[in-house]
Amino acid sequence: MSPRPNLNKSYQQLVIEGRIQNDAAQQKLLSLLQEVLDNLLAPQKKSFFKKVKPVGKAKSLYIYGNVGRGKSMLMDLFFAGVPEHHKHIKKRRVHFHAFMQEVHSRIHKLRQEKADDPVAVLASEIAKETQLLCFDELQATDVADATLLYRLFEGLFVCGVCVVSTSNRPPAALYTGGVQAERFIEFIRLIEEKMTVAALSSPDDYRYQQGRNQMEYYCYPLGYDADDFVAKTLKKLGVKENYHTETLIVHGRQIAFKAYNKKIGYFTFNELCAEMLGAADYLALARRLDVVIITNIPKLKLEQRNEAKRFVTLIDTLYEHKVRLICTAEVTVEEVYEEGDGAFEFKRTVSRLVEMQSENYGKTINCHPEHSEGSLQKIT
Ligand SMILES: Nc1ncnc2c1ncn2[C@@H]1O[C@H](COP(=O)(O)OP(=O)(O)O)[C@@H](O)[C@H]1O
Ligand SMILES: [Mg+2]
Repeated sequence: MSPRPNLNKSYQQLVIEGRIQNDAAQQKLLSLLQEVLDNLLAPQKKSFFKKVKPVGKAKSLYIYGNVGRGKSMLMDLFFAGVPEHHKHIKKRRVHFHAFMQEVHSRIHKLRQEKADDPVAVLASEIAKETQLLCFDELQATDVADATLLYRLFEGLFVCGVCVVSTSNRPPAALYTGGVQAERFIEFIRLIEEKMTVAALSSPDDYRYQQGRNQMEYYCYPLGYDADDFVAKTLKKLGVKENYHTETLIVHGRQIAFKAYNKKIGYFTFNELCAEMLGAADYLALARRLDVVIITNIPKLKLEQRNEAKRFVTLIDTLYEHKVRLICTAEVTVEEVYEEGDGAFEFKRTVSRLVEMQSENYGKTINCHPEHSEGSLQKIT
C-alpha cells in the first residue's frame, strides 16, 4: 500500500525551499485538512453483510479568514495530496463562480429535458462524477441563488460528497445583503451542521507583502502619463499594429471588444463594469485572453455598488485564470472603493490587484503573432 500523503511534510518542504514562512495558524489548519484527507483515503471496510464505502465519511471542511492568509495555498496543498487516480475518489477543484455557472446551465438543460427535480438530479449526477469537491471563495451574494444553494448542497451531502471550501467570511456572515436574508439562513445552517468550520487567522496578508513594492502594471492618476503608460506597455508586449475587433459569443449574446495580437484585450472600465456583463462573460474573456488592459478605473462612489460588484467578479475571474492585468486608474488601488455596499468584499479585490502586480503572478503567454505555436513567452 502506498504511504498516506503527509501534508505537513509538503508544507515543510515549501518552507525549506524558502517559498513560504512557517505560520502556526496555517499549520493548525493543515492538521484539519490532514484529517479530512485521512478519512477520505481510509481503506474500504468490509462488513460481513455489506461493503461499507468510505466515500462520504469524511467530514466536509469550511475554512474562512481574511484575504492573503493562505487559504487557497493550503487548499492547493491539500488537493495535491489527494492521489490523482485513487480508486474511489474523483477530485475536483473549482472556483465557486465557475461552478455556479456550470450549475445554472446544467439545471437549464435538465429543465429542458423535463427532469422531475432538476436540482436533486444534478446533485446526484455531480456526486457520481466527483467525491471530493474543493471550492475556492465560496460566496453567497445573489439572493436568487439562496434556495438553489441550499438544495444543491443538501443533495451533495446526502450523496456523500466531501466538500472543502474557503471563504472570506464565517458562514453566519456569508450573506449580508439584507433582502430576503432568511432564505440564506437554511443554507448557512446546513453548512454549520455538515461541515467543520475553521478560521485561519494568520497575522499577515502575504499577498500584500509580495506585490506592494512593484505596482508596475497599475498606473494612476489618469491623464497623459497614463495614456503613455498604456502605449509603452503595448509596445513591450510586442504589439505593432492597430487593434482589431474580436467577438465573443456568450449564451448567444455577442460581446465585441478591441484586441491586439489576438490575446490582448483592451477595455475601458465602463465597458466591462458599467454594462450588463456578468460572471459568464468575464469567464469567457479570461479563457480567451492572456492580457487584459482596463483603462479609466474611476474612484467609485457610494452608489456605484453594481460597478464595484462586477469589478470584484471580473478581478476574481482574471486572477483565477492568471490573466495579466494592466490598469489605469484615477486613484490608488486602495482608494477605488472604500465605502458602500460590498466594500468589505472589495478588500480582497484590492489585495488581489496588488498580488497581480508581482513578478510571480501571470501565466506563460504567447502574445507575439510572429511566434509559432509553442514558443511561449513569459510577460514580466
Ligand atoms: N506562510 C506563508 N509565507 C509566505 N507566503 C505565503 C504564506 N502563505 C501564503 N503565502 C502566499 O501569499 C499569497 C496569498 O495566499 P493565498 O493562499 O492566495 O491567500 P488567501 O486565499 O487566503 O487570500 C500567495 O501568493 C501565497 O503563496
Ligand atoms: Mg484565496
